[in-house]
Amino acid sequence: MKTIRVRDKMKALVLSGGKGTRLRPLTHTMAKQLIPLANKPIIHFVLGQVAAAGLRDIGIIISPETGEQVRQSVGDGSHWRARVTYILQDAPRGLAHAVQAARGFLEHSKFLMFLGDDLIQDGLRPLVREFATADYDAMLLVKEVPDPRQFGVAVVDEAGRVLRVVEKPKDPLSNLALTGIYLFSPAIHKAIDAVKPSPRGELEITDAIQCLIQRGGKVQARVLQGWWLDTGKKDDVLEANRVVLDEYARRAVEGNVDDKSRIVGRVEVAKGAEVIRSTIRGPAAIGEGATIKDCFVGPFTAIGPGSHLDGVAIEHSVVLESCSLQHIPRIEDSLIGRNVKLFFSGSGRQTLRLFLGDDSEVAVV
Ligand code: DAU
Repeated sequence: MKTIRVRDKMKALVLSGGKGTRLRPLTHTMAKQLIPLANKPIIHFVLGQVAAAGLRDIGIIISPETGEQVRQSVGDGSHWRARVTYILQDAPRGLAHAVQAARGFLEHSKFLMFLGDDLIQDGLRPLVREFATADYDAMLLVKEVPDPRQFGVAVVDEAGRVLRVVEKPKDPLSNLALTGIYLFSPAIHKAIDAVKPSPRGELEITDAIQCLIQRGGKVQARVLQGWWLDTGKKDDVLEANRVVLDEYARRAVEGNVDDKSRIVGRVEVAKGAEVIRSTIRGPAAIGEGATIKDCFVGPFTAIGPGSHLDGVAIEHSVVLESCSLQHIPRIEDSLIGRNVKLFFSGSGRQTLRLFLGDDSEVAVV
């Protein structure tokens, strides 16, 4: 009984602010947390996991630039049987600054913090349950990685106690990266107040955790066994799309497929989509109202709602909504924004590898 009551009081904080500079040009016009994997925005996967862990009181950090898009995509949270409160962070001044901005929402609760562009395989329920009843000040989900220099890094003893954390060290003292999933007691707020902006000008949550450790706080780490995907750059998004399709795609053909087409393996063709004289080889996803005519759509590809492809061979790519792609012999490893027009009138058979922002127009002649 007690376990359930404590967990019910825990809150969740999902970070969907930031600038997304590493995903420009796409993030000039859209929040990186809304980039779709298998046609579903990344933040929807995050919210699904938070809700599945039993947390229904969720704060979402938004930025002035992309907050409205996030609101429109997520709504009031009822899709996940959760209550969502939006918290505006005036500028991307660091993860600890985001927690400061959320202080009114968090009050004196323990909370789960989840970066809105992170994906993990394992469920969070056991972690949340353990933290709800333990007397830890923080718990960090870490993952062994070959090169941890681009992440926060934790030094952990055999008992799971965190001895030290450092943000993006040049010479890492361990191979355990901070995944961006943290559990905090209210003790974190005082620690945040004590830290100063880092050389990159941000109030780092890693520094606040280090401060907690130095003040004698109990900080534990748990090692994630399943996959972890940080969708920071274009190739990370393609890899995340590959993993998500591989793991979740099922065969579900709701749209129209003519008898000259072949659907091979786990392919989702959403309702209103049309497939004409084409081969689609799964795992792949075709969004609502898309048309695929005289095409080959290869594995690990997602075509967004309302996009039209005519005479295109494409694989290992993500195409967002309302695009028009015509007569392209081969596209691979590409990330194509919304409402892009792409036309090929050459005679060559070269492969295109593209990263295009929303509303781009490209003619290859
Ligand atoms: O991905 C895991 C890494 O995330 C950790 O290993 C690092 O310790 C942690 O500092 C963080 O590093 P990044 O440099 O990758 O964080 P990034 O700036 O990409 O922001 C992560 C998410 O938080 C992203 O969804 C945007 C959001 N965010 C970021 C900032 C700086 C905000 O909502 N507000 C902010 O002020």
